[in-house]
Amino acid sequence: MISKQMSDSLNEHLNIELFSAHLYLVMSSCCNELGLKGAANWYYVQYREEMIHVMKLYTYLNEQGIVISITAKNAVPGKYSSLLEMLQITLDHEQMITSCINNLFEQAVQEKDHATQIFLQWFVTEQIEEENNDRDLIAKLKLVGDSGHGILMIDGEMGQRVFVAPPGSVLAV
Ligand code: FEO
Repeated sequence: MISKQMSDSLNEHLNIELFSAHLYLVMSSCCNELGLKGAANWYYVQYREEMIHVMKLYTYLNEQGIVISITAKNAVPGKYSSLLEMLQITLDHEQMITSCINNLFEQAVQEKDHATQIFLQWFVTEQIEEENNDRDLIAKLKLVGDSGHGILMIDGEMGQRVFVAPPGSVLAV
């Protein structure tokens, strides 16, 4: 049994995760245009991971007898001047997501909704990794420089990223 307030909040977060997926898909395309195939791969993998997050929320809400609604109408910005700009926007965005997850968790605690607290624990841990990945890439890019050989080295590293679905995931793509 989940409250209407809790399911509404989770549904709203599902839409935010969907926005995240679309944001990273656009960034993948922008990286491709900049000639950064490795970074394009990294962002495409990130897009797929975000769709896993969407589907986790979708499955949880369905299992609680809730019909989801798609309300996201935010257009995704389509132009970025550099990889460093995209990574900094990515880190800012992920910090916002972490704050949303913390608020959801707090709401579940207030409502004594133990099932939702357990469900959200995976997201709490995931956000640590997400922010850390972004910070790591930003630091490296600042060290080597956002142009020339340096960026090609980072691009090569980003090209190694492989999508791995978490165990038991519902794949959307
Ligand atoms: Fe789904 Fe990147 O948080």
